[in-house]
Amino acid sequence: MTTSDILRAALVGRLTENGTLTDAAWAKAATAVPRELFAGSYFVPIEGSTPTGYRTVHPADPGWLEGVYTDQTLITQLDGRTSPEDAGEQSVTGAPSSSSTLPSLVLDMWQRLGADAGHRVLEVGTGTGYSTALGAHRLGDRNITSIEYDPLVAARAASALRAAGYAPRLLTGDGLDGDPEGGPFDRLIATCSVRYLPMAWLRQVEPGGRILVTLSGWSYANALALLDVTGPGEATGRFLPGYTSFMIARPHDRPPRPVLALLPGEERASRIDPAKLDTWTGSWVAQLAAPSAERMGSGGNQILSDVATGSQARTVPDAAGGWTVVQRGPLRLWDRVETAIEAWQGAGEPQQDAFGITVSAAGQRVWLGSADGPGWDLPV
Ligand SMILES: C[S@@+](CC[C@H](N)C(=O)[O-])C[C@H]1O[C@@H](n2cnc3c(N)ncnc32)[C@H](O)[C@@H]1O
Repeated sequence: MTTSDILRAALVGRLTENGTLTDAAWAKAATAVPRELFAGSYFVPIEGSTPTGYRTVHPADPGWLEGVYTDQTLITQLDGRTSPEDAGEQSVTGAPSSSSTLPSLVLDMWQRLGADAGHRVLEVGTGTGYSTALGAHRLGDRNITSIEYDPLVAARAASALRAAGYAPRLLTGDGLDGDPEGGPFDRLIATCSVRYLPMAWLRQVEPGGRILVTLSGWSYANALALLDVTGPGEATGRFLPGYTSFMIARPHDRPPRPVLALLPGEERASRIDPAKLDTWTGSWVAQLAAPSAERMGSGGNQILSDVATGSQARTVPDAAGGWTVVQRGPLRLWDRVETAIEAWQGAGEPQQDAFGITVSAAGQRVWLGSADGPGWDLPV
């Protein structure tokens, strides 16, 4: 046995013991696929740095292989252009734009997708190709199609997959369009997040099929949804428990905005504690209520800036222990967020798994509790 085999078996053992790996066939795939073939050099965040700085770990560095078999995400690109090879020995900053997702999440998602022998699967976001290789091992090359947006990332994944002995159908392009020539599919799994479900997916996944995707938005709050396709262009599903987040699909990312100037506006007292927006689910609810807004700030000092209309809302603590909100522009962002947060609080502040989603040609709606409960339209 090589060191790689030993480390891989140990990781599979840990993921089995902690209850992540429950399906023997996926455990077999994880035992067979050498993650190091897909990782190459990677970025590691420098603890305590603000903004987050990254150092590079190269294959010749001590600890590189151990890092590959730690249950962590290996960042392989920043800002859509900087690879660890480009960074050399310098520490760098930037927004992660490609990675090998942590193995526990990849395997958990494959298991939740319920992909079985004979299912044709479309993966959106090939990244390093590691998750694609697991799928190809478990389901067979013929049943896996994977799409990557970034041509350099796609080329690296293609050669890693070849080196590992897998030959799934690989496409370079916008995975939000799906694969019109290759479908239909029984399952779709996305390892980048979206603001709304692309209608192409709903047409290419057959009724009775499933879609597993993280919904995110311009405030970068996330929730993982599992949808059943109920008819052509129609799906319904629930959000799953846990804290899954993925980088947003490049065409769904928010447009750049000019430097933010905080301007005067209408003032009133806030009915909710703005710090609720710092919580995992509070930030998600706020994003549902104001989907074209970017959220900045923290605690009592929240700032919402609407990318589409220039509307603003900001909160400041007041002398009486409450908060004043200042709003301006055509959208009263805080009014919307406040109403949504109050509805969520009224339901006992549940996490994302209390929410569901309904999609049809008429629109896409995320709801709380049941389809006739409080709901928010996605910005399709
Ligand atoms: C988290 S990484 C993928 C991880 C990958 N599954 C793995 O195991 O290595 C997300 C990938 O999605 C890609 N991506 C972003 N937008 C996309 C789009 N519209 N279509 C296809 N891929 C996209 C990014 O370039 C990035 O490589």
